[in-house]
This record gives sequence, C-alpha cells and structure tokens, in this order.
Amino acid sequence: MIPALEVSQLGKSYDTAQGPAVIVKDFNLRVSDGEFVCIIGHSGCGKSTVLSIAMGLNEATRGGIIIAGREVIGPGLDRGVVFQSSALLPWLSARENVLLAVEQVNQRLSSRVRQALADKFLDAVGLDGAADSYPDELSAGMRQRVGIARALALEPKVLLLDEPFSLLDVITRMELQDQLMSLCAQENKTVLMVTHDVDEAILLADRIVMMTNGPAATVGEIVAVPFERPRDRLGIGEDPRYHQIRSQLLGFLEERAHGDGTAVIQVERQSVKAEKQKVTSEELFVIEKYTGFNRFRGRFRKRQAPMIEDSSLGRAEVKMLS
Ligand SMILES: Nc1ncnc2c1ncn2[C@@H]1O[C@H](COP(=O)(O)OP(=O)(O)O)[C@@H](O)[C@H]1O
Ligand SMILES: [Mg+2]
Repeated sequence: MIPALEVSQLGKSYDTAQGPAVIVKDFNLRVSDGEFVCIIGHSGCGKSTVLSIAMGLNEATRGGIIIAGREVIGPGLDRGVVFQSSALLPWLSARENVLLAVEQVNQRLSSRVRQALADKFLDAVGLDGAADSYPDELSAGMRQRVGIARALALEPKVLLLDEPFSLLDVITRMELQDQLMSLCAQENKTVLMVTHDVDEAILLADRIVMMTNGPAATVGEIVAVPFERPRDRLGIGEDPRYHQIRSQLLGFLEERAHGDGTAVIQVERQSVKAEKQKVTSEELFVIEKYTGFNRFRGRFRKRQAPMIEDSSLGRAEVKMLS
C-alpha cells in the first residue's frame, strides 16, 4: 500500500559563512494511512525543519517528501497545519478565521451553509458559543482551538502539527489532546506531530520517532505504542508498558543530551498576555498559503486596522489588505 506520507533520504543544509550547515541528513520515515506519528527530540535538532518541508514552507536540499502519492513542492490544501502559535487574523472573528478554510474547499456552497460548516468545526474543538469572538477576546487555549478548527476545515487527509499544545496550560492541553484523538479516530486522519512532551507522544501516537541531536540529525529510534484505541490517559498510565516506553524515550533523550545529561525535555512556557493579538509576517505567510485569504478578503469586514509586525512582507500585506 502507498504510505500516506513518505519522507525519503531527506536532507537539509544551510549555507553559512563557515560552509554548509547540515541540519537534517538521511531522514527516512513512512507514515501509513490513518497513522499518528510523533517526532520528539531535543530543542534545535531539526524537528520543525522536517515538518516545514512537509508543509511545503521550506525546501529540501536532498531527498523529499511524498504525501498521498505526490511530491511536496509547496504548501497545499491537502494538509492541515497547526503551530505553537495559532496564527489567526486578528481582525476576523473565530468563525471568519475558520471560514477562510471552509471557503477553500466549499466554494459552491451557499454562504449560510458555509457558516454552518465553520460552526461545526468550531463545535468539534469545543468552541461553540465563541464563534463571534475575536482572537484578542479569546484565551490562548481558545485561539489554539480556532487554529485547529481552521486546519480541520480544509478537511485534509493529513495533519502536520508542530508543538500545537506546548504553550497551553495543563488542563487545556489535556482537553485538546482528547479532542484531537477523537477527531482523528472519527475521520481516520494521518498525523505527523512534533512534541516535546513524552506523555503526550505516548497518549497520542501509534509510533514515536526519536530524532538524534544535530548537526545532521536523523531518525534515531522508533518506538511503537501498543495501546488499543480509544485510549484514556488514566487507563494507559496504569499499564506497565507505559512506564517501559516512557523510560525508553527518556533514556534516549538523556543519552543524547548535551553536557550533564539533565537537559531532557524543556519547554519554555511563555506566559500569554491578554494583549492585542498581533500577526507576524511569517504567520501571515502561512495563513495566506493555507487559506488563500487574499482571494476572499473582500468578503470579510475589517474590524480594525490589521496589526502586522515588522518586515517588508508585513507592510506589503497591509497595503494589499486595506
Ligand atoms: N535559515 C537558517 N539558517 C541556518 N540555520 C538554521 C536556519 N533555520 C533553522 N536553522 C537551524 O536549524 C536547526 C534546527 O532548527 P529547528 O528545525 O527549528 O529545530 P527544532 O524544531 O528541533 O527545535 C537549529 O539549529 C537552527 O538554528
Ligand atoms: Mg521546533
């Protein structure tokens, strides 16, 4: 059977003043249809690099990635992407943000039906009732839910998730993990997800890929997670195999840690302030590539001047939007 996603001999290097810096080398991975694969590894080893190439936002230097039988040559609506930051357009409501994606795949439906679809995806991530709220009125967890709803609204076969829950509080994170699990089970999604969190990986994944440290990072070990689905965290926590897998993952990470071996899994938890949400030019680029919002911008009323941080791309986009 053709794998849903196949990474072949992937390599990525950057030219630097000291010569080429090899970030990822000979990375191979096959993800089956409906499979959930997590990638863990130390900060800076190249996890996001691999994922960004699968997203079509970064170019491979060697090898490549095939998704559903087609080589990735750029961003595409066959993939739903979610990052640490929810990358929402601050001047659109939650529903309007999700509608950007709904519009992409349901151009023939009436606007009422499309709105109902957007609400359905918001419901699926537990956001019923918040559809009319704007990003700066929502908590970090709620914004992330909108981001996930937007990714699901493309109705993609493949989800590419780069630490989507790492900045959230523990309770919200657990809720979103459970929702993601049930959504993936219902729709048989294929998922490639980067996480720092060993317990998250064991709960969600069918297989966990441990990446070696860079430079020239690659697949170190792969561990299969044998628990039946549906899973619940308490149930699997009582299984002795849980602790075996956990020790295996931590052992791998410790072995490959720099220095004294204590740098196991560190996430910098940023406190998310209730300030006006900004969208960076990088986020804007991703939103545009994955929702094509420029095509539809006329349909969305502008609530406020778009807030876009830095860079020439940002300014160009502001001009285009106004
Ligand atoms: N444009 C670039 N030029 C040079 N090095 C880069 C560039 N982008 C990322 N890197 C380097 O690639 C490495 C892997 O980064 P990344 O994939 O973001 O790691 P991870 O997601 O595992 O934390 C890091 O050491 C980073 O500094
Ligand atoms: Mg990363």
